[in-house]
Amino acid sequence: MWLYLAVLVVLYYLLRWYRERQVVSHLQDKFVFITGCDSGFGNLLARQLDLRGLRVLAACLTEQGAEQLRKQTSDRLQTVILDVTKTDSVAAATKWVKEHVGDRGLWGLVNNAGISTPTAPNEWLTKQDFMKILDVNLLGVIDVTLSVLPLVRKARGRVVNVSSIMGRVALFGGGYCMSKYGVEAFSDSLRRELSYFGVKVVMIEPGYFSTNVTSLKAFSQGLQASWNQTSPEIKELYGEKFMANFMKSINSLETTCCQDLSLVTNCMEHALTACHPRTRYSPGWDAKFIYLPMSYLPSFLVDLMVYWRNPQPAKAL
Ligand SMILES: NC(=O)c1ccc[n+]([C@@H]2O[C@H](COP(=O)([O-])OP(=O)(O)OC[C@H]3O[C@@H](n4cnc5c(N)ncnc54)[C@H](OP(=O)(O)O)[C@@H]3O)[C@@H](O)[C@H]2O)c1
Repeated sequence: MWLYLAVLVVLYYLLRWYRERQVVSHLQDKFVFITGCDSGFGNLLARQLDLRGLRVLAACLTEQGAEQLRKQTSDRLQTVILDVTKTDSVAAATKWVKEHVGDRGLWGLVNNAGISTPTAPNEWLTKQDFMKILDVNLLGVIDVTLSVLPLVRKARGRVVNVSSIMGRVALFGGGYCMSKYGVEAFSDSLRRELSYFGVKVVMIEPGYFSTNVTSLKAFSQGLQASWNQTSPEIKELYGEKFMANFMKSINSLETTCCQDLSLVTNCMEHALTACHPRTRYSPGWDAKFIYLPMSYLPSFLVDLMVYWRNPQPAKAL
């Protein structure tokens, strides 16, 4: 009986491997629009797809980022300035994309732009702190997607949304995890709706990787600013020791973050170039072996793990 089971498992993986290695044809005629290409995953993906021969339309937040990217890539790659929080900027970028793709439509949209600060315990934050992250990571994704969707539908292409493994298990307060839960919900409903039109929607859920989003400096400055803005009552409840221990736990980011960003961009590339992309990719060992399994555990077990790992407030009962 075990032998049959083993054979079935091997057959399943062989079939999956065979399906997943089939590549779409005429890649050099396909346009891919990527947001947040100044740095990190977006920047590497833009260079990677350019090398592969695709027509990359790279959106950068700054002119400096765009100029640097153009210097490192072929003439095929074009850049545009885009702030995903500004609807007029999104509309102008969409017009620019439309002019470039013409009747072919847009093969791929990669919603990659994102921010991660301020991140702190929820009670230390204001509504504006939450809005700042949600505006980029969730409403930005929705605005850009709705705007360019007619072009993607024309090409029967793909929408690749960069979520996070923190979109599966919320391990800290602030807008980041909720923004990524939102991206998951938006992508799930969109995938079902767009399947009628031959458009595929894919989610990328990376673990911790070394980029500006996980920058120790940005996190600790954000945490300190949030602590400074809290009321004396909250400061007394949590205590200076909690703050110091929280800072220490952030310091571990430097050693735990994976340096190899290509683990993520290879998944994005597969999502855009394979005939049968997966619905979800979870690049990174921490995502695969810690956070993803954790997301399937009963809540009380996850709660226990978090209590055990996190610092306790001074006035904890
Ligand atoms: N690194 C990780 O461990 C990790 C894990 C899971 C998910 N992610 C997600 O991966 C995506 C890419 O992040 P990354 O890790 O590659 O960090 P990153 O290097 O900071 O990349 C984020 C990019 O988004 C741009 N951006 C920020 N605000 C924007 C706005 N309002 N409009 C347009 N672009 C904007 C940034 O521009 P500037 O550089 O000019 O600020 C930057 O180019 C994000 O969605 C992030 O949440 C990252």
